[in-house]
Amino acid sequence: AHGQSLAGRRILVTAAGTEEALDPVRFLGNRSTGRMGFAVAAEAARRGAEVILVAGPTPLATPTGVRRVDVRSARDMHAAVRAEYDGVDAVIKAAAVADYRPAEMAEHKIKKSDGELTLKLTRNPDILYELGQQKKHQILVGFAAETQNVAEYARGKLAKKNLDFIVANNVAEQDAGFGVPTNHVQIFYADGRAEDHPLMAKAALAGVILDRLEETFQKRG
Ligand code: PMT
Repeated sequence: AHGQSLAGRRILVTAAGTEEALDPVRFLGNRSTGRMGFAVAAEAARRGAEVILVAGPTPLATPTGVRRVDVRSARDMHAAVRAEYDGVDAVIKAAAVADYRPAEMAEHKIKKSDGELTLKLTRNPDILYELGQQKKHQILVGFAAETQNVAEYARGKLAKKNLDFIVANNVAEQDAGFGVPTNHVQIFYADGRAEDHPLMAKAALAGVILDRLEETFQKRG
């Protein structure tokens, strides 16, 4: 239906969760499977874009025509995204990036003892915030995973991270967010507009997001 409507565009997509190592065998992670980001990458490639997919650990197959860069931690993702940023026309950040990592990674497997174990965590870089600070020609699309005050928090992230638009999912809903094949979102734009979308397959939502991206490119001229 969309022919080669993104031909000539380079699009960086991030997907899946990051893993923050505690020791050689354990990590702190989250429930992102990568389905949302992989759906966006697949549809962008189908529309003729050159797609770079920076992916956290996931068993999902690489979509046809997509260049995939595998990463594990938030810091790995940060480095991979920075390396591509200057050369891309848009970034769509569907990955669930850990805000914190263990302050120290144990060299050997942590042994249990009878008492409690306290973990100290330290802040990870906010990748999308940094991209917003360094934005030149790029269009930036974020996601917001919220369980309450969705509009307020999503609008806050849109402004703080200097995004063109943000896709907000209420991840407390059963058919939306992490893991499931569907999503239910609102999209908030830098110009103040907001859109409600019905529950739909992640593949269909990928189409909506890329339609909006194409409109943003067109407005830029
Ligand atoms: O992968 P699935 O199982 O299909 O699930 C999809 C999803 C729920 C993971 C996806 O739809 C989603 O909401 N992704 C964003 C998850 C998230 O980390 O949201 P956030 O509100 O914490 O972050 C806001 C934005 O900043 C995101 O675009 C995120 O990629 C980015 N970010 C966050 C923290 C950080 N340190 N660096 C970032 O770049």
